[in-house]
Amino acid sequence: MKYRRLGRTGVQVSALGFGTMRLPRGKTEADVNEAESIEMIRFAIDQGVNYIDTAYVYHGGNSERIVGSALEGDYRSRVHIATKLPVWMVNETRDCDRLLDEQLTRLRCGHIDFYLLHCLQKKSWEKMRDIGVLEWAEKARSEGRIRHLGFSFHDDYDTFERIVDEHDWSVCQIQYNYLCEEVQAGTRGLQYAASKDLGVIVMEPLFGGTLACPPRPAQEIWDSVLDRYRPVDLALQWLWNRPEVATVLSGMNELSQVQENIASANRSGVGTLDTDAIELIRRVRDAYMQLSPIPCTKCGYCLPCPHGVNVPQNLELFNHATVLKGNSAVLCKNLYFAMPENERAAGCVECGTCEDHCPQHISIRQMLKEVDKTFR
Ligand SMILES: NC(=O)c1ccc[n+]([C@@H]2O[C@H](COP(=O)([O-])OP(=O)(O)OC[C@H]3O[C@@H](n4cnc5c(N)ncnc54)[C@H](OP(=O)(O)O)[C@@H]3O)[C@@H](O)[C@H]2O)c1
Repeated sequence: MKYRRLGRTGVQVSALGFGTMRLPRGKTEADVNEAESIEMIRFAIDQGVNYIDTAYVYHGGNSERIVGSALEGDYRSRVHIATKLPVWMVNETRDCDRLLDEQLTRLRCGHIDFYLLHCLQKKSWEKMRDIGVLEWAEKARSEGRIRHLGFSFHDDYDTFERIVDEHDWSVCQIQYNYLCEEVQAGTRGLQYAASKDLGVIVMEPLFGGTLACPPRPAQEIWDSVLDRYRPVDLALQWLWNRPEVATVLSGMNELSQVQENIASANRSGVGTLDTDAIELIRRVRDAYMQLSPIPCTKCGYCLPCPHGVNVPQNLELFNHATVLKGNSAVLCKNLYFAMPENERAAGCVECGTCEDHCPQHISIRQMLKEVDKTFR
């Protein structure tokens, strides 16, 4: 495994971090295959991965619990655990204490190495700051319950810069990949945080898996170069090529993905991409952009919909139907009607709850109307 400097924290972090938001699962988000997940996490640690990212809400709380089980024995001492405070569940600092206690219990450990305010946006940051979360975190740090404080981020660049400037953070976690250079914090945010010596942790490096399954025009470009380049490997190498990136979190859901991504990390390095690879990424990016799919990463923050609409599934089917043609588009329509009626786009009553939580700021209500019109 290659290790990289995690900003000013003094930690040498593995180039690949394990994101536990997409563990192998059954029909529901909370229905996680525990044995398989534990095997994958321990395999990654045995191969040198030393940063495990989880959150209070992932897999309905089962992600933290499973990470806790996976780290039994000496595994805990070999990794840095990052988990997150669900800021939307916090109204006063007493809530922070209650949530952190619960997380320590689920994770079966005495301290969290990296405690992140989850999914900060302009409003949630102001609320957290005003109720005294920073002072609370300082106290939790002095008590040894957390080691480093950071935040994960989903808003625009200006908000990002402001949040970086308003506290002496250790780390930040940003959505970044070759389609997101100008989305949210983007390349400017990456460089700004690194210039302040924050450890920058990248999430959604494959845009939630979108870059692993390229639509036809992009796939045609990959087909012509498969003897030299692979879509997943190159998307990850593109990130590691940058000096500002500390670790790249991958949300892996099967052992073969863990093996593949570890092999990629072992080949990684700053400034290792040649001009052919950089040009290839530019062409693939253009191919994606021309398709203009809805920028949904299936993070699931829009759920639960109070009326039961399965927002990510509807948007994904729409994206696929837009990008894919012929029989595949027909298949999307069939899949749409295979969903229970209340989960389809047509069930949207436009309450807008989903839009308040969408990190991509997608006009979901408008999009669901489009989805319904397309498939009806
Ligand atoms: N704090 C936040 O606000 C926030 C938000 C999002 C994510 N995160 C964290 O960041 C982590 C990473 O984000 P992400 O899960 O969106 O990562 P990602 O790498 O962009 O997407 C994960 C998906 O990529 C696919 N994949 C991964 N490795 C692959 C391989 N070798 N070959 C083929 N497909 C592969 C899998 O898709 P398939 O399922 O199609 O196989 C997997 O589910 C999360 O797990 C979570 O820990 C945090």
